[in-house]
Amino acid sequence: MSSPQSNSPDYSDETLDNKGVSRDFSFLDQTLRPNRFVDYVGQETIKKNLKILLQAAKERAHPPEHILFYGPPGLGKTTLAHLIANEMGCQVKSTSGPAIEKVGDLASVLTNLSPGDVLFIDEIHRLNKMIEEVLYPAMESGVLDIIIGKGPSARTIQLDLPPFTLIAATTRIALLSSPLRSRFSGGTFRLEFYTDKEVEKIVHRSAEILGIPLSQPAAEEIAKRSRATPRTANYLLKRARDFAQVERGELTPKSVAEALSLLEIDELGLSAVDRAILDVIIDKYKGGPVGLSTIAAALSEEMATIEEVNEPYLLKLGLIERTPRGRTATRRAYEHLGFDYPEDSQGRLI
Ligand SMILES: Nc1ncnc2c1ncn2[C@@H]1O[C@H](COP(=O)(O)OP(=O)(O)OP(=O)(O)O)[C@@H](O)[C@H]1O
Ligand SMILES: [Mg+2]
Repeated sequence: MSSPQSNSPDYSDETLDNKGVSRDFSFLDQTLRPNRFVDYVGQETIKKNLKILLQAAKERAHPPEHILFYGPPGLGKTTLAHLIANEMGCQVKSTSGPAIEKVGDLASVLTNLSPGDVLFIDEIHRLNKMIEEVLYPAMESGVLDIIIGKGPSARTIQLDLPPFTLIAATTRIALLSSPLRSRFSGGTFRLEFYTDKEVEKIVHRSAEILGIPLSQPAAEEIAKRSRATPRTANYLLKRARDFAQVERGELTPKSVAEALSLLEIDELGLSAVDRAILDVIIDKYKGGPVGLSTIAAALSEEMATIEEVNEPYLLKLGLIERTPRGRTATRRAYEHLGFDYPEDSQGRLI
């Protein structure tokens, strides 16, 4: 997970066993991660473009050009990076923006690449400027410029790098400098939220892999509450399975609904914090407009978390709108939270 997630349920595969001992299930994430295009549900336009890019690269016997994926957490950016490597039959070396602190860290990553490797940099928006400068020539001409020494005696040596594909992912495209953005010559792709049908397909596939018997109505119930996000869908499936197991019952729409209300996830897939955000805008600031920093302060939450995790889904559902003066709540938000929409007899907002 690339962003602070204090306010959302923990969607990583970490859970407690029946003795209260934390067990790391991250291997499950690997198991559920599709590694071929046929298993990767949705994102049809992206898949079409990538297939062409990869086939052309294969025919030229050269690694594909550099690719950037962006979009909200849990939509399948990391999955695509691994899938591309798998489809190309090459290795992935993974790192992340915050892990590359010094120029030397990047130099060591780059010089350890083998020809044809995919270098995956997650959270690329967190690379610092100095490191970006080193990355540019590496991306453009496959060379690494290293400065040795200081002052007048400093000199630059140039190392040739093996041909590689950089695949980068970010939840915050706006934070990327334009020189960096423009160097993703293979393409920049925005991942979209999934439709309910697509999420159902993902839930069925995951249930099959995990050996969970799942009826279509139960899958629909999970999909409906999954924030249109595969990672959330897989998380909710596992939590609903736990609930049914403990209750010695079946996974039915009713048990799914019960399990998920226990997690404070409502029928629109909103978490307690999503609802608190709406509540602040409506109740405290009369429907807005109100700035993001004010909302964050009112809830003691990180602004970045609200912007990356909560806001995209609230916007997608049409519960809030973004205006130059801040966020406003829509009629749908008022109705969802059970507030009267403040309008006069002609339907004008008062
Ligand atoms: N299109 C898809 N089809 C099936 N499963 C998917 C798809 N996309 C994602 N998943 C599932 O969702 C999980 C989360 O996806 P992934 O880790 O790739 O998201 P991400 O976009 O990299 O998120 P973050 O921004 O938090 O790093 C994966 O482990 C995978 O099981
Ligand atoms: Mg990721």
